[in-house]
Amino acid sequence: MHGHRHRDTRADRCHQRCGAQLRFDFEGADETIQLTDNELLLDAALRTGQDIPWSCREAVCGMCRAKVCDGQATPMAANFILSDDEVADGFVLTCQTRAASEKVRLDFDA
Ligand code: FES
Repeated sequence: MHGHRHRDTRADRCHQRCGAQLRFDFEGADETIQLTDNELLLDAALRTGQDIPWSCREAVCGMCRAKVCDGQATPMAANFILSDDEVADGFVLTCQTRAASEKVRLDFDA
């Protein structure tokens, strides 16, 4: 498989080794936290001690919704509540997504 080139930039290696960083706004607070491996954005946000709303963790209630303002989140594993327009506007269900870039910024107040 000589034709296959694996993308391996320094940022990617750091992403794999030390995890990505999540920064978010919630009820006026501006929080930053280091993500652990494969951590859901909702779980990381909750680790800061902020009372982020959530209920189902199954992509149904929509309470964990936030807007991706910077960086990238993985495509949602499931989504039964956000409209196509909301998704196009950058909204995600944070119980269904992880970081896809070294830094991700969310706005839970959007
Ligand atoms: S907690 Fe219900 S959709 Fe995320």
